Amino acid sequence: MSVLVALMNLLLLVIALALLSPATEAQQGTYRYHVCPNTTTFPVNSTHRGNRDSLLASLSSNGTRGNGFYNTTAGRNPDTVYGLFLCRGDLSAEVCQGCVTFAATDISRRCPVEMIAIAWYDECLIRYSNVNIFSAEAEEPATVLFNSQNITDQDRFNQQVQAMMSETATLAANTPPGAKKFAARATAANLSSSIQTLYSLGQCTPDLSSSDCDRCLRFAIGNLPRGSQGGRVLSPSCNVRYEIYLFYNQTAVAPPPSPPPAPISGGNGNGRRSWPIIVAIVVPIAVIILIFFLACWVLKRRGKKKYDAIRAENAGYDITTVEALQYDFTTIETATNNFSDSNKLGEGGFGDVYKGVLPNKQEIAVKRLSRGSGQGAEEFKNEVVLVAKLQHRNLVRLMGFCLEREEKILIYEYVPNKSLDYFVFDPAKQGQLDWSRRYKIIGGIARGMLYLHVDSRLRIIHRDLKASNILLDGDMSPKISDFGMARIFGVDQTQGTTRRVVGTYGYMAPEYAMQGQFSVKSDAYSFGVLVLEIISGQRNSNFYQTDGAEDLINYAWKLWKDERPLELLNPVLRDNYARNEVIRCIQLGLLCVQEDPADRPTMATVVLMLNSYSATLPMPKEPAFVLHSRTDGSMPYKGLESTSQSIPLSINEVSITELDPR
Ligand SMILES: *[C@@H]1O[C@H](CO)[C@@H](O)[C@H](O)[C@H]1NC(C)=O
Ligand SMILES: *[C@@H]1O[C@H](CO)[C@@H](O)[C@H](O)[C@H]1NC(C)=O
Ligand SMILES: *[C@@H]1O[C@H](CO)[C@@H](O)[C@H](O)[C@H]1NC(C)=O
Ligand SMILES: *[C@@H]1O[C@H](CO)[C@@H](O)[C@H](O)[C@H]1NC(C)=O
Ligand SMILES: *[C@@H]1O[C@H](CO)[C@@H](O)[C@H](O)[C@H]1NC(C)=O
Ligand SMILES: *[C@@H]1O[C@H](CO)[C@@H](O)[C@H](O)[C@H]1NC(C)=O
Ligand SMILES: *[C@@H]1O[C@H](CO)[C@@H](O)[C@H](O)[C@H]1NC(C)=O
Repeated sequence: MSVLVALMNLLLLVIALALLSPATEAQQGTYRYHVCPNTTTFPVNSTHRGNRDSLLASLSSNGTRGNGFYNTTAGRNPDTVYGLFLCRGDLSAEVCQGCVTFAATDISRRCPVEMIAIAWYDECLIRYSNVNIFSAEAEEPATVLFNSQNITDQDRFNQQVQAMMSETATLAANTPPGAKKFAARATAANLSSSIQTLYSLGQCTPDLSSSDCDRCLRFAIGNLPRGSQGGRVLSPSCNVRYEIYLFYNQTAVAPPPSPPPAPISGGNGNGRRSWPIIVAIVVPIAVIILIFFLACWVLKRRGKKKYDAIRAENAGYDITTVEALQYDFTTIETATNNFSDSNKLGEGGFGDVYKGVLPNKQEIAVKRLSRGSGQGAEEFKNEVVLVAKLQHRNLVRLMGFCLEREEKILIYEYVPNKSLDYFVFDPAKQGQLDWSRRYKIIGGIARGMLYLHVDSRLRIIHRDLKASNILLDGDMSPKISDFGMARIFGVDQTQGTTRRVVGTYGYMAPEYAMQGQFSVKSDAYSFGVLVLEIISGQRNSNFYQTDGAEDLINYAWKLWKDERPLELLNPVLRDNYARNEVIRCIQLGLLCVQEDPADRPTMATVVLMLNSYSATLPMPKEPAFVLHSRTDGSMPYKGLESTSQSIPLSINEVSITELDPR
């Protein structure tokens, strides 16, 4: 009997092991994206290469250590390699180990000779560099992935996603010291048609401070795609994700209260002799039941995993490709009613803009580029693909392009409420923009510009920031348009000198207008002009004031010096505004239009200044003084720069020293 029982137990054990083994097999990583610039490389047989390889080996063999995050170095200066991995917070040490081992091989295949590399997988990220990357927040390079399934009530959905992500970020950033900086949650979202569960996740490398983590997550959230059922932003220091299906291990995130231990009733009626029999009967039955449940669980898990994988595949996670962005000319022709005048929305610097409606009823704005761009077809396509990847809530989205019959056409999302100049300069419509709305618009433009300058993978100098390039959506939120045009037209560098000045009279920094020197600081100048225009409701380029100031900037400066800055405020706002905010914005505007580009703040500083009431702003210096030629609007226009500190403000008695261009 006991032999039989023992055999049965053995058999059951074998079955159990057989059933359990698939669950414990090493898992791999699911590759998502990688970046390794080929600008810094090492020779194939160098010390650096040896160090890189031993670093990867060491990361891979330490895959189960450090609670899902591990950093280490290999080699000595100057060939030290710094590396780390981070596993998704809900995964077990085994899954983490599996992903890291896979990633270590995968990254050395994808980046054979590059010194700086990062690769993201669903389960982990791996990163190495020839400079110290530990404890330093890095928001780029980043990549945005989105689920190509769209949703119906986009505005409502986006709002709920943003609110949920923001809470998730707060949770992830504020975990206790030493713990993973990770949070994943399920939230009920009230969409117009139904209540749906949204799942969100946020994680930073745990070597960041809470505030750095928070900052990183918020930048990432700002770049989440809008209008998709799911999206992620992957950056070196943090990542965020949301979906309408469960994509993380809920048990690991919020372990359910452990069930009360099953009562074992030994029974007391029978004598000692019956024990072995009871054990012999009860144990196998218990084991059978246990195995039954285990088997169900394993099968269910495998089924679910398959389901998730299919979901993820069908969900169309993809990096934007040329094919996905290309439209037929006939589609565009039909959409715009053959580029009819009644569909024309405006004329821009690079061509005319038409409204169109695609066969699926989606509204678009179509920009038909004027002939003679300096770019060949391949470069044009490449640039469009890059610019289309820039996605931020304060940027107008570039949806695609059309390249046929000598035509170059860009297709943008359609933004309903016209542009900022339509409201802000029109006395009949100014009233629709109260102070808090204008303040939000200023903040939104600043964040959009910051994204262009810093947070996107391409550093883009806008070069033509102005009120008519700020579109307003249904909520009156600003969206910057026309960015990346210099790139698409094949004249971009991130800073430098150009003979082709693109820009608009009244917004151009003097060094750009006169010497063609552009940089993030010439954009800051245009931003400053825009801020002063939003506050005053007056155009810088078309400014008439009885008391002698000859443009808006100098008028604002004069009021500032006389300590009566609030007089700049648009009269329709005089009854209802936040004094502090207005003064801060005027000061910020004046800081941005200072003569010396080095004195002007970067957009990162601007965003910081707008967000923090406690930061003290420096005192602005005298703004750049440009003598406008009121008749000649052609670019580049001739101007003169002043050197004197005491410039009479009246144009009639102006004394100017003419400078040779620097
Ligand atoms: C770097 O990559 C670019 C584009 O992928 C390629 O055109 C270029 O030749 C590469 N440079 C080197 C040194 O491999
Ligand atoms: C690198 O070293 C291996 C073996 O040491 C050798 O076979 C190979 O030719 C070397 N490659 C280069 C590019 O020097
Ligand atoms: C872990 O990393 C250390 C260096 O950080 C390395 O010496 C060691 O070989 C690695 N592997 C294990 C199993 O500890
Ligand atoms: C990991 O990074 C920390 C700084 O964040 C550093 O102090 C530590 O030495 C690193 N660990 C290794 C093994 O290099
Ligand atoms: C996406 O939205 C468009 C309309 O905006 C709709 O026609 C299309 O069916 C949607 N696609 C999916 C996959 O839901
Ligand atoms: C969802 O929102 C709508 C509109 O705001 C509201 O009428 C409805 O009661 C909400 N449903 C639930 C269950 O909260
Ligand atoms: C989920 O997490 C729990 C608790 O950490 C763990 O026991 C379980 O194996 C995990 N499940 C999966 C599918 O990884």
